[in-house]
Order: sequence, then structure tokens, then C-alpha cells
Amino acid sequence: MGSNDLPRGAVIGLGMMGRHHARILQSNPAMRFAGAVDPGGDRFDAVLDGARVHATLDDLLSAGEAPDFAVVAVPTEEHLPIVRSLATAGVHVLIEKPLAATVDEARAIIDVCAEHGVVGAVGHVERCNPALRELRARVLDGQLGDVFLVATERVGPFPDRVRDIGVVKDLATHDLDLVRWLGDAPIERVAAQTQHRMGREHEDLVLVTGRVENGRAFNSVVDWLTPTKVRRTRVLGERGMLVADTLAADLFFYANAHVPTGGWPEMQARRGVAEGDMTRYAIERREPLAVELEEFVAVLGGADATKVVSLAEGLETVAVAEAVLASAASGETVALTGSAS
Ligand SMILES: NC(=O)c1ccc[n+]([C@@H]2O[C@H](COP(=O)([O-])OP(=O)(O)OC[C@H]3O[C@@H](n4cnc5c(N)ncnc54)[C@H](O)[C@@H]3O)[C@@H](O)[C@H]2O)c1
Repeated sequence: MGSNDLPRGAVIGLGMMGRHHARILQSNPAMRFAGAVDPGGDRFDAVLDGARVHATLDDLLSAGEAPDFAVVAVPTEEHLPIVRSLATAGVHVLIEKPLAATVDEARAIIDVCAEHGVVGAVGHVERCNPALRELRARVLDGQLGDVFLVATERVGPFPDRVRDIGVVKDLATHDLDLVRWLGDAPIERVAAQTQHRMGREHEDLVLVTGRVENGRAFNSVVDWLTPTKVRRTRVLGERGMLVADTLAADLFFYANAHVPTGGWPEMQARRGVAEGDMTRYAIERREPLAVELEEFVAVLGGADATKVVSLAEGLETVAVAEAVLASAASGETVALTGSAS
């Protein structure tokens, strides 16, 4: 494929996330840059040629060659109107996570993409983290044997910018997507507690426990209140535990030791698991966002669509986030009905 045949991608919203998408679109040999839109301009100097930054989407769409696809990196509450305009213009969309602020908006995004026949995907970029990809491959390969727990921790200081949503929809949607992806089944039920400590309208801490449909348990701890940043995912099974640190993209395996008990089954049962060897794997570390964009572009070129996170999966995660908030509000366990999909 000559470089003129490569898909042209635009970035809508040049904020914290959009600037990184713009950097990759301007430098990655698998795609071309089609300009950016931000009414606030290019505050991070992300775009090399200032003439390619537009104040409105209409300006971008009427400025010469239209983009083949766009990355939607505007605040979550604005995803739907932007996607509607892009889909109407026949532009494929890679939408930053979470797909939308509400289930209704997420459904409307799915409908408008289907109506105009454009490809849509959600930027759940953690699935492109090399440590988590390796972890999942090893779980699917049976390294842990029977898996019974997925546990995630995503805590740290508040990123100092205005938020239109709370920590459940903004940050815990990473975890809820990972639980479904690593747990290999939809989330079936959740029980949650939240805290509001920063004086904002929305919650800033959440603890969730729950179960996925194949019976595996999960828990997630997510906040904007902890004075150090932790990003840890562990999967526990009958043969040991895999732990991913997604900040460093490190993956560790803690094996259960085999301690002989001389054919004494009661003693084996009483002793439980013993501490065995620990291994840190050497893995290739590519930038997750570049991988995400490359895979989206590959899907536009006809590759297997399961390479990207579908809009239906994005909707499912928003529905689980709403169930988490409902549980925290009521104090009850909330069952997911499956009506999201
Ligand atoms: N994948 C991740 O790890 C990750 C991390 C942070 C944020 N996000 C998601 O990315 C999206 C953007 O978040 P952010 O942190 O970059 O926000 P941000 O506030 O830093 O940037 C948003 C930008 O969008 C611009 N904008 C607002 N309305 C617009 C419009 N109608 N057209 C064009 N531009 C518009 C704003 O001027 C701003 O520059 C959100 O959906 C958020 O949840 C994802």
C-alpha cells in the first residue's frame, strides 16, 4: 500500500488524551494525519502544522480531503453529538473510553454508527498494555489452571482537570472492562461502596466486588485520593497468581509450591497453598495507544474486527458502571440483566 492509500485520521479534542493520539497519527507509518479540532486550540502544541488545527468539526470536514476516521477525545458527555456529526459525514470513529456517560447515550452512539454504516470502536487502551496482553494469553493457555479471582487496583492522586463524571465512569470503567476481558465472561452482579471526599458532585473512591457469569469472583479498588499511583491487576488460579503492573508494563508469576505431605491428604488440605518460585517475564513493551490505533486502522483495512473493543462491549461496560453506582446508592447487590447488549 502506498502512503497515499493509508487511512487518514483526525483527532477531535486536543486535550490530555487527544494530544497523544495526534502525536501518533503524525508519526506512525501505518496511518496519515488529517487534522484536528478543538475550540480551545492546540494548548499542548501537539500538531506540527498549526494550519491543521480547526475550531469546529465543520471547518475540518470542509477543509479539503475528508478524514477516513476520527479519534473522539472530547469530554465523555460530548461523545454522542460529535459521533453523530462524524457518522453522518461517513467518518469511522475510534471513541475514547468510556463510550458514553450513560447507557442511553451509548445506545444512541451504536444506533447512529449502524445507521450510517461506519465502523466504531472504543479506546479501552488497557487491553493494549503489553503486560495485560501477556497475562491474558497465559491465562487462556491454562498456566493458572482453574481461575477463581480477578483483582484490580487503580489508585492515585486526582488528575487536576475538570471532570464531567466521577471516578466510577472515568477510571473504574478501565477495570470493569478488564474484569470482563480477563474473566472471560460478562459481569453478572456487583456490590459497591463509594466515597465523596473532594467536595465534587461525583464520587472519588469506589470499591466493587462481584462475579462474572462463569462464576469467577472479582474486586476492584479505584480512587483519586491515594498519594501514590498504583495500577495492579492480579489473576489468581489453582496453580498460582499472575500480577501485572501496568505502569511499568511488568508481569510476574507467583507459582504455588508443591510441598510433599507424604500421601497425607488431610494435611495437604490443611496446609493450603505454599509459596513457590516467582518469575518476572521479559516482554516486548510497545506503546499501548500506538497499538490501539494500528489495530483500529487494520480493522478499517479488513482485519478481524475482534482486534478492537466493539461498541457493544463499550455499552456493556457503561451499563456495569451504572450498576456499580446503583449498588453504592442503595447498599444492595445489583444483578446485570444482560439488557445492555
Ligand atoms: N484511555 C485513557 O486512558 C483515557 C485517559 C484520560 C481520558 N480519557 C478519555 O478521553 C476523553 C477526553 O479526556 P481528556 O482527559 O483528554 O479531557 P481534556 O479535558 O483534557 O480534553 C478534552 C478536549 O476536548 C476539547 N473539546 C471540548 N468540546 C469539544 C468539541 N465539541 N469539539 C472539539 N473539541 C472539544 C476541549 O477543549 C479539550 O481540549 C474522555 O472521554 C476521557 O474519558 C481516556
